[in-house]
Amino acid sequence: MRLSSPQINLITRACMKASRSLIRDFGELENLQVSSKGPGDFVSSADKRTEKTIIEELQKAHPEYGIVTEETGIINKSNIKNRWIIDPIDGTMNFLNGIPQFAISIAYEEDNEIICGVIFNPITNEMFCAEKGNGAYLNNTRIRVSNKKKLKDALLVTGGPNGASKIKNKIYSEYINVSNNVSSVRKFGSAALDMAYVACGRFDGYWQRELNYWDIAAGVIILREAGGFIDFFEDDLSYPLKKNVLASNSNIHQELKELINKKDIE
Ligand code: IPD
Ligand code: CA
Ligand code: CA
Repeated sequence: MRLSSPQINLITRACMKASRSLIRDFGELENLQVSSKGPGDFVSSADKRTEKTIIEELQKAHPEYGIVTEETGIINKSNIKNRWIIDPIDGTMNFLNGIPQFAISIAYEEDNEIICGVIFNPITNEMFCAEKGNGAYLNNTRIRVSNKKKLKDALLVTGGPNGASKIKNKIYSEYINVSNNVSSVRKFGSAALDMAYVACGRFDGYWQRELNYWDIAAGVIILREAGGFIDFFEDDLSYPLKKNVLASNSNIHQELKELINKKDIE
């Protein structure tokens, strides 16, 4: 890998360290399916343990940096100059069900701009990473978005709605509308990996509503550095960490955006 900033090195090290127990925990899940407590509590403690390891590792180097995480919330709130954005397990439902489609996602921001990020699936041993101006990589290989030219030929990925969503019908009709205009749509259950898969050309595009910032922060820089386009549409300024996202290669971006914005999906 040709990325060498101190922050990307720190993130990579934190990912590797946290992934050791995560791999062990994933291997244990099979036994837990039959235990009286079930895997739910176990997964939530795996989530917390992973996050704790990552935070400890990052804080060793920079105790003063701000941190936004899914489990712990916000640390060092006043420091918005340097911030880590962490999702310890993205794809929890997959993890819980023994499906190896989940990842650790960590991004680093300076003055609200994402500078670098890593998305690591410890089971497939795929590490996606990028640094502003220095490209995006999958393990040691440079990645680029697909070159698909026509939306009607595109393979897209999406996610949601989550259980508590109040706009389920809108999301379903959007799904139908998009599906009618592309080659096919998949749902893989990890927003971070969905973004990474667009970055390396496996999917041509991705869209999803009601995400949290930590789901996609690392994906944003990986996708941009791989030559992709990203829009945050219908931003909710009262909840700045909530995002609706549309990401794709540059060829189909405008057409996909118009399809999502079509009034007849309301
Ligand atoms: C979830 C995953 C999923 C997406 C959900 C997210 P979690 O994150 O990214 O793909 O559809 O909206 O909340 O809960 O597994 O970290
Ligand atoms: Ca998570
Ligand atoms: Ca997540």
